[in-house]
This record gives sequence, structure tokens and C-alpha cells, in this order.
Amino acid sequence: MPKTLIAYATKGGVAEEIATIVAEVLRDTFKHDVDLVDLRHHKRNIDVSAYDNFIAGGGVRMQRVYRNLYRFLRLHDLEGKAIALFVVCNEAGNLQKLDETRSKYVGKVQNACPRIRVICPEVFGGRMRMFGKVVDVRDMERVREWANGLPGMLPA
Ligand SMILES: Cc1cc2nc3c(=O)[nH]c(=O)nc-3n(C[C@H](O)[C@H](O)[C@H](O)COP(=O)(O)O)c2cc1C
Repeated sequence: MPKTLIAYATKGGVAEEIATIVAEVLRDTFKHDVDLVDLRHHKRNIDVSAYDNFIAGGGVRMQRVYRNLYRFLRLHDLEGKAIALFVVCNEAGNLQKLDETRSKYVGKVQNACPRIRVICPEVFGGRMRMFGKVVDVRDMERVREWANGLPGMLPA
């Protein structure tokens, strides 16, 4: 049974919702043994040698991907490991600009953490409160589709 780590950085909860859906798909459909880790509570003590596969993701505020995601990618021994990466931001609600948004945020992560090997990079819409209104551009069907495509790309 492949052992898979899903590590996520969230402030508003959407990266956690996405990580939970991905975990469900990998467990129920592909029989992975999945550990879900909220990076707020695990700063640098995850034993990454215990895992075959890595999925990591985090949200964006003010054009910046959350620091806890960078910290995880930098402080653990992930050199050369394939990391399936997702980023959560409201810009991803604009499907016409999806390629641009994906390149922008995946590029930021890859520049900040050049030693990891990003696979299957994706951006998903999030949810935020603006001027007293909730702007919700989540699309969990896209998340499920992405999760179903991962096992063919992950190492184990
Ligand atoms: C203060 C603030 C700033 C934000 N800035 C951006 C931004 O620059 N670009 C963007 O696409 N989304 C932005 N968002 C939307 C977030 O990416 C969205 O809330 C997402 O769900 C964050 O992930 P999380 O819920 O896991 O924390 C912002 C949200 C907040 C609350």
C-alpha cells in the first residue's frame, strides 16, 4: 500500500478542504495509506523518509503563497523528490486566466524552493470575505479530477 503525505498550509480553511478531498480519493479509490498534516502544527519534524509520495499545497494572500508551505518544502529532506503541488487563490476562479495564474504561483514556489521537483502543479479557487461579502470560487469537482489523475504520476 503506497504511503502518501499530504501537507497543507491554510488560514481560511480551503487548502484543508482540498487536502481532505484528495486524501479521500487516494484512500477510497486507490488504497493509499494517507497522512494529512496541517503545517501550522508541524513546523519541521515530519519524518519524510516514511513516505513514497508527497502532495503539498497552500493558500495565497497579497500575491504570496503561505510561508508555512515554503518552510515545509525547505526544511525537510525533499531534494529531488517529486511533489504534487497545489495552490489555492481566488484568481484561480477566473478560468480564462488559469494557465497564467498557475504559472505565476507555481513559479513562485519553484523559485523559492529550487531543489524540489514539482509534478502535476495546479491552482484551485478559494473563498474570501471582501467588503462584508463572501466571494466563493471553490470548485471541488476540479479538485476530484486532479486527485484522480495523481496516482498515474506519483512515484508509488
Ligand atoms: C487578506 C487576503 C488577501 C488575499 N489576497 C489574494 C491574492 O493576492 N490573490 C488571490 O488570488 N487570492 C487572494 N486571496 C484569496 C485567498 O487566496 C483565499 O481566501 C484562499 O481560500 C486562501 O486559502 P485558505 O482558505 O486555505 O487560507 C486573499 C484573501 C485574503 C483574506
